[in-house]
Amino acid sequence: MPHRGGSLLVENIGELVTNTAYGEGGPLGIRRDVALLVEDGLVAWIGPGRDAPAADRRIDAEGAAVLPGFVDSHAHLVFAGDRAAEFAARMAGEPYTGGGIRTTVGATRAASDDELRATVRRLHAEALRQGTTTIEIKSGYGLTVADEARSLRIAAEVTGETTFLGAHVVPAEYADRPDDYVGLVCGPMLAAAAPYARWIDVFCERGAFDVDHTRAILTCGQAAGLGVRVHANQLGPGPGVQLGVELGAASVDHCTHLTDADVDALASSTTVATLLPGAEFSTRSPYPDARRLLDAGVTVALATDCNPGSSYTSSMPFCIALAVREMRMTPAEAVWAATAGGARALRRDDVGVLTPGARADLIVLDAPSHLHLAYRPGVPLIRQVLHNGAPQCRS
Ligand code: NIG
Ligand code: FE
Repeated sequence: MPHRGGSLLVENIGELVTNTAYGEGGPLGIRRDVALLVEDGLVAWIGPGRDAPAADRRIDAEGAAVLPGFVDSHAHLVFAGDRAAEFAARMAGEPYTGGGIRTTVGATRAASDDELRATVRRLHAEALRQGTTTIEIKSGYGLTVADEARSLRIAAEVTGETTFLGAHVVPAEYADRPDDYVGLVCGPMLAAAAPYARWIDVFCERGAFDVDHTRAILTCGQAAGLGVRVHANQLGPGPGVQLGVELGAASVDHCTHLTDADVDALASSTTVATLLPGAEFSTRSPYPDARRLLDAGVTVALATDCNPGSSYTSSMPFCIALAVREMRMTPAEAVWAATAGGARALRRDDVGVLTPGARADLIVLDAPSHLHLAYRPGVPLIRQVLHNGAPQCRS
């Protein structure tokens, strides 16, 4: 075979999750005993090892499973401080209301750019070590024009998937004039945020933003060229899911309290239902009914919701294990949802799959099968991560 410059061959892959065809492993499109060639940051070739093209460098997977890197389509990494005491109080019986968001807003406003940047980089690196090669990062703890813009500017230093969440809650100084805050979000705040954002999101929930405000904000964001996503139906039933579907949202996230009409709306749409079981774990709340969504034909993604209040985990393997144990997803469904599902939630077709032309974002497991991600919960199974074809430091 001809020599290929700058190429890398991952050989002796026992189980390759491609997510490109329905076959072994259901939607995972598993191929066995193959090698995968990386060139220029992309997957260039997949086939039996004996047919592999020559390559500059090699990684021996030693019969292990190889998966697409995780696509974490929902995370809030731009913040200061933590809320460990609030977590402890919840574990002692306090309910989660979202009221702690304002605590983090105060700490975030008081932080320097470099402090925020250090937290984003630390959590981004932590996620990468655990196999996350694409991550969405929201603003939403600044809630002033300047603080939302800088949050997104700092997030954009590590990812292209940035989301303007100026409508996370109404900040204290606008508590008695929420209409004015919505005007600020749709006007100067959106103008300052849009250059750094791909998406717009609203926390549509009792105590945050009602359906009229949510519609107004999402519509302004669309007019500014941003794609739509919604925090919906987390703490109780509500209009967020159906509004998201109506507006063509790429994803509605949380989906913990759904009516039959919500499930029907999702099933006949291209909107992904992104489930965030770390939030139910950390708020000791009932988990969303993933089985009901999957059986209705809804596309489901899994994401971490990493934030200092409701879900301070960056671990997609942890979310997979929760989804399997607590939400009755099969291991294959959960792995698909954490990779290809997350890619759908971000309307990306270059990640979440391993096929020629896709980004060479992949994980070599310390295990022979994707099943081990749920079967061996809490165990660090991510042996090696390639991001854009580049091997990252081993964890
Ligand atoms: O997705 N639900 C709204 N926002 C976050 C929680 C934020 C917080 O508690 O700080 C979430 O769970
Ligand atoms: Fe969230």
